[in-house]
Amino acid sequence: MSRNSAITGWGMYVPERVLTNADLERIVDTSDEWITSRTGIKQRHIAGPGESASTLSIAAARQALERAGIEGKDLGLIIVATVGADYPFPSTANLVQHALGAHCAAFDMQAACSGFLYALSTAQQFVANGAAQHVLVIGVEVLSRVMDYTDRTTCVLFGDGAGAVVLSASDEPGGVLGFTLGSDGARPDLLWIPAGGSAEPITEESLRAHRNFVHMQGSEVFKFATRIMGTAMEEALANAGMTTDDMDLFIPHQANLRIIEAASKRLNLPPEKVFVNIANYGNTSAAAIPIALCEAVEQGRVFPGAHLGMVAFGAGLTWAAAVVRWTAPIERHSDEASGKGDATRMPATSALGSSR
Ligand code: ACO
Repeated sequence: MSRNSAITGWGMYVPERVLTNADLERIVDTSDEWITSRTGIKQRHIAGPGESASTLSIAAARQALERAGIEGKDLGLIIVATVGADYPFPSTANLVQHALGAHCAAFDMQAACSGFLYALSTAQQFVANGAAQHVLVIGVEVLSRVMDYTDRTTCVLFGDGAGAVVLSASDEPGGVLGFTLGSDGARPDLLWIPAGGSAEPITEESLRAHRNFVHMQGSEVFKFATRIMGTAMEEALANAGMTTDDMDLFIPHQANLRIIEAASKRLNLPPEKVFVNIANYGNTSAAAIPIALCEAVEQGRVFPGAHLGMVAFGAGLTWAAAVVRWTAPIERHSDEASGKGDATRMPATSALGSSR
């Protein structure tokens, strides 16, 4: 049995509080000019007291369920992709399941920034084989809680947020047409939080050395990302029986504008086929692609029948790409409905201008 699927609901939530490059200039030795020219980031959203992976997830999920026209009780599975679960256990998906009034299986999935596409591809299997009618897939991060705000090489890059989709069984071909997932765990130290897990429990010494925060060898990750993004996207397209020419919109992981530009060039894509919103959110890891998808829909860049190419890379190292055929009718929604507070009411443009 192999059933068609479709994205029937989508939603996003970002915290109200905004941390601009000017704010960071007062915290670490950096400048708006450096951050903008090296990354394309102008601001990021930061969770406030009382906010966590589950609260952000629930807000994004409620929107996605509403758009799908279903309730929590209709869900057959919930998958939450995150590196920042509320607790080591239980899973954040458990908390989301309860809050939504769902009565289904729920689990977290961890593939860092590739997590959302890992989760979406997994959800596709449950829908295709008839195990679930509707699967809620969430990408969420609260990276501000594991950022070292004395380390300028990492703290300027990341932000908090959540994005969610409902993947449902469908009569017409849609949903994930092809995907590829990858892992190379040879160098976990390229991007990791060394302490806090079973390998290195937190001690006073590890806290003093800030080993409970994100550590990254940025230029190594950069080289890997520019190499893998194009290759992975082409592989997923080939698995769907397609080429880059068939792609209507490219929605890449939002980690660095230069990485996005390199991937777009490699795939020979004109700017109007590339979605970029990194200026407003920074790198929200597993949340970046579903947030970008929501904004692409909001901006009228997604239409019924559109083929969307999505690709991500992240800690692990991991990578993932998927080709999605969009089938849902599009209604334009207001800013209120898109889960953004007043502070974010600005065009979602990149540092390169509004055409991208
Ligand atoms: N402000 C000012 N100067 C800075 C800053 C900053 N915020 N950060 C670094 N610098 C300095 C460095 O100290 C260095 O100075 P030096 O030459 O005196 O030693 C100089 O800028 C150049 O540093 P590089 O690291 O070579 O800068 P680069 O151009 O490579 O840009 C960056 C760094 C933005 C981190 C880039 O390497 C990058 O984006 N890498 C990929 C990171 C990434 O995407 N990570 C997320 C993966 S997804 C996930 O799973 C979470």
